[in-house]
Amino acid sequence: MAIERTLSIIKPDATRRNLTGKINAKFEEAGLRIIAQKRIRLSLEQAGKFYEVHAARPFYGELCEFMASEPVVVQVLEGEGAVLKNREVMGATNPANAAEGTIRKEYALSMGENSVHGSDAPETAAVEIAFFFSGLELVG
Ligand code: CMP
Repeated sequence: MAIERTLSIIKPDATRRNLTGKINAKFEEAGLRIIAQKRIRLSLEQAGKFYEVHAARPFYGELCEFMASEPVVVQVLEGEGAVLKNREVMGATNPANAAEGTIRKEYALSMGENSVHGSDAPETAAVEIAFFFSGLELVG
């Protein structure tokens, strides 16, 4: 399988509970390399732009407010089949459906406060990585 890059976000519910290191350990144990990472505070406008694809969904407003409520850690993960591998490590969007050992099973609080975001396809990953990082910041 090809080496890929994917965008990951450690969400406010997780940064608030000091879980950044524990979540990063899950990525590294799965063979994903954290090749870029920064802790930032999103504005409501930036959160809205990032999640623009969900603008028509009923949860959009709540999602954007949550993502702008406290700091997040945005990161680029690299590895074989990184997009799919990261989604496996994260677990299902709804923690009630997440498999044992996944980040969301262990740490997510609810469907909205679900601790992590990960790109859903290589094409989306390229767009999402460029949203937060310049090429100079990506050192594989
Ligand atoms: P994420 O992977 O960041 O992508 C969109 C987010 O919307 C999702 O994780 C959830 O945290 C959030 N969300 C809130 N409510 C819902 C819902 N009913 N269905 C899907 N996603 C939801």
